[in-house]
Amino acid sequence: PKRVRTRHFQNAKREGIKITGLTSYDALTARIFDEAGIDFLLVGDSAANNVLGYETTLPVTLDELIPLTRAVAGAVQRAFVVADMPFGSYENGPDEALRTAIRFMKETGAHAVKLEGGERSHKQIRRVVGAGIPVMAHIGYTPQSEHGLGGHIIQGRGEGIKQLLADAEAVQDAGAFAVVLEMVPADAARQVTELLEIPTISVGGGPHCDGQLLVWTDWAGLTTGRIPKFVKQYANLAGVLREAATEWRADVASGAYPTEEHSY
Ligand code: KIV
Ligand code: NA
Repeated sequence: PKRVRTRHFQNAKREGIKITGLTSYDALTARIFDEAGIDFLLVGDSAANNVLGYETTLPVTLDELIPLTRAVAGAVQRAFVVADMPFGSYENGPDEALRTAIRFMKETGAHAVKLEGGERSHKQIRRVVGAGIPVMAHIGYTPQSEHGLGGHIIQGRGEGIKQLLADAEAVQDAGAFAVVLEMVPADAARQVTELLEIPTISVGGGPHCDGQLLVWTDWAGLTTGRIPKFVKQYANLAGVLREAATEWRADVASGAYPTEEHSY
């Protein structure tokens, strides 16, 4: 299969073909999602919650994300792999951002990086793009600034639309090839999508964006905690695995497993 490149994102927007993305944190799911034709895989810092068991994305480090990103990038044949820059790896300025982006590109085989923030991250995006590394921007609700935003709150509502539009223009001007819109009203996301030449990718941004992205563990029902309203669950993996484990435990207890068939 022909590899997805940044130009695929541009062409998709121009031709009105929807872009699809899922998060992935390991080689097994990366291979499956790639075979299913998902356009891009984001090795999100949501690995903090979904793999490492942290309460928020704040504690996860670059050194923790690098091996996960390498596993995903090494498993795909077609999908475009985006490495998510963790909290504390780019806020100090363009030099720090470029250093982090270079580590991802050299050590993992990812095809692009993602970082949070609109106007406030303009300089970082410009520097990384200037070094030949594609950047996916991320505006609206940005989980790394949960405490600054005062909680898990919808962005771009009411007067907030002005900041959202300013952030969108800022990341496009800085050279981002696409922008994630997280948890914003559908009408605000529509306005951003019409304003920008680069594609918008919705995570809880409604149907008018150029693409859709979901956290795979939420989407597949592996997450057992609270799921955001914008997620549609396409499977119940937690239920499947719980049932399998319960059944296997009972079979071992009763002697139904293993039989001759599973023995040497
Ligand atoms: O880390 C992540 O999973 C993300 C997406 C939800 C946008 O950044
Ligand atoms: Na993230």
